[in-house]
Amino acid sequence: MQDQLSALLAKASAELPALKTRPDFEAAKARYVGPNGELTALMKQMGAVPKEQRPAVGKLINEAKTALQGHLDAALATIANAELAAQLGPAVDPTLPSPDFGPGTSHPLTLVREEMCRILRKVGFTVADGPEVETEYYCFDALNTPSDHPARDEKDTFYFPASARFGNVSKKTPEEKYLLRTHTSSVQIRTMLKGSPPIRIVSPGRVYRRDTSDATHSANFHQLECLYVDKNVTVRDLKALLDYIFASLLGKETKTRFRPHYFGYTEPSFEVDLTATHLPKVKKPWIEIGGCGMVDPTVFEAVGYDPEVWSGYAFGMGLERLAMLLYGIDDIRYFYQNDLRFLKQFA
Ligand code: DAH
Repeated sequence: MQDQLSALLAKASAELPALKTRPDFEAAKARYVGPNGELTALMKQMGAVPKEQRPAVGKLINEAKTALQGHLDAALATIANAELAAQLGPAVDPTLPSPDFGPGTSHPLTLVREEMCRILRKVGFTVADGPEVETEYYCFDALNTPSDHPARDEKDTFYFPASARFGNVSKKTPEEKYLLRTHTSSVQIRTMLKGSPPIRIVSPGRVYRRDTSDATHSANFHQLECLYVDKNVTVRDLKALLDYIFASLLGKETKTRFRPHYFGYTEPSFEVDLTATHLPKVKKPWIEIGGCGMVDPTVFEAVGYDPEVWSGYAFGMGLERLAMLLYGIDDIRYFYQNDLRFLKQFA
């Protein structure tokens, strides 16, 4: 038996490493360990081995089995490696310089964001930033948005578990609930608390809502917020600035109109529509583009500004909507798919 096992292992160690394909491997495996295989045949002879020799012979067979399995595994690994190498093609020389992919291009949302900031800088606005993980205080409470407001609903907003802590997101009220900000208006509060009037800021950034994605909705999109605080600011100043911005970005044919609306943080409040039918693909005469109004005295009180002295306006709008108008894009999802055929058009 020992000789037979040794002969079998010698044969296997010579034959198996030379196998090139999976079908050859499977055939060889069957010849050794299949139901009619050579090792299987030897194992069947155990029945004829005298009882007292069985433990010793059993041990020999087990050792042979393990060794054979080792040869089989190695042969299969060699075949798998060869298959992978064939898939990968010729060996890569990592010391060669990489092929020139050409310079990248700015994303259309980046282009619009930068252009809006440039337009606003020209009239004295500076760019302000705020965190995307916000507290209810900055996102809602200080903006006169009470706890029963629909924007605060669990169904509309991404809250973090009560145990979550994010550094110093809120120094004022560290025990608060955290959420992904639903709008950039939170930066109004942060800016007013940090500084003192007059204030003139633009704050572009990412915002989050529980929205089902479709051609015009995305759970994650971008807004641009503006806040102006000074003495004797009027609705006329607000309208003039919006007219200036949209004429600069979309062309001087662009006109705006205000519709009365409600926002907790402004009084009066308006929705802003614009008309820009000179742009390709713009069919509708009026398109809603954002919200605005005169800063509510309650908000000034929340940040310690005297509403008898200070006045101001604020507005917010979606950057995607602006980019879609400007470039004639009809599906918001294109912005996030990273499809080079789309992105290269803005080179
Ligand atoms: N935060 C509002 C939104 O997300 C937009 C907005 C409305 C911003 C009025 C403002 C404002 O600053 O005054 O829909």
